[in-house]
Amino acid sequence: MTGRLIGTGSYVPDHYLSNEDIAKIVDTSDQWIRERTGVVRRHIVEEDTTATMAVQAAKRALEDASIQAEEIDLIIVSTIVSDVLMPCTACYVQNEIGAVNAFCFDLNAACSGFLVAYSTALGYIEMGLAKKVLLIGTELLDWTDRSTCILFGDGAGAAVIEAVDGARASICMHSDGSKGDSLLLPRNGTITMNGQDVFRFAVSKVPKVIKELLEQQQKTAGEIDYFILHQANKRIIDAVAKRLQVEESHFPCNIEEYANTSSASIPILLDELRKEGTLKKGQKIVLTGFGAGLTWGAVYMEI
Ligand code: UT7
Repeated sequence: MTGRLIGTGSYVPDHYLSNEDIAKIVDTSDQWIRERTGVVRRHIVEEDTTATMAVQAAKRALEDASIQAEEIDLIIVSTIVSDVLMPCTACYVQNEIGAVNAFCFDLNAACSGFLVAYSTALGYIEMGLAKKVLLIGTELLDWTDRSTCILFGDGAGAAVIEAVDGARASICMHSDGSKGDSLLLPRNGTITMNGQDVFRFAVSKVPKVIKELLEQQQKTAGEIDYFILHQANKRIIDAVAKRLQVEESHFPCNIEEYANTSSASIPILLDELRKEGTLKKGQKIVLTGFGAGLTWGAVYMEI
């Protein structure tokens, strides 16, 4: 018994800032941002909060999964910027959607958060402690600092996982706390990042963890339909594809539209791919997250 993805939903604010808009606020240019990151615009909250975006994404995921909120028995929210420190955002979501039978908690593993939430959900399901789990990544980030505002955007993505017999899933997760200073968000502060260190870390660790996962599953990279990577930088995604010797077309990307939405990026992309019909039953998918901690990991699933 393990978990299978049965629904996705996402929510991004309508309001967006183009690279040209950003260039009016900090010393940068459209060309620099496109060439270094692949980002063209990022959606930014006006009225929304992490909690309200999470609720919208959650409602859409439940609708997509064709289930009632009362059927959910676990809600996990991944965020680094919850509106309040307590209670957890997952409890807020529970109340707003009426998931009265769910146990709720938040977790923080930065940009790897959705992967950690996914693997936690699989753990609960495989232990027989949950049958239907709602996972949400929701983030809104400071975009006024030159070195980071070009990269980040706001949004939320959600997924529903259901316990099924015969589904296949596996997980590889890693952390290296000694590199904590590379990507830091102090309480009440703004993000500081050693971009080059994080870039090198991602390009070296992500292909390794994917290979480790594929070995566990006794699969080759060529057998995987899609590698859905955390949308941190188009150059990172291209470099990983190259190292795995897999065509870039197997690495879907939407960073151009949303920039890096941290733990929301994977579920937003999953949702887009499902809704446009790219993801089909029977496909083999690898999800990969990486970010502050440092943390990184990969999940294999058959949809
Ligand atoms: O999601 C969490 C994980 N995070 C990541 O994966 C981020 C990984 N890192 C990156 O994506 C890249 O390191 C960045 C996009 C953040 C930066 O790109 P880079 O190619 O590493 O640029 P850099 O920091 O080496 O800077 C190159 C040049 C410097 O100028 P000089 O010294 O060559 O004259 C910077 O001052 O670009 C300059 N620069 C900028 N120019 C225009 C740095 N930031 C900017 C900017 N606009 N925003």
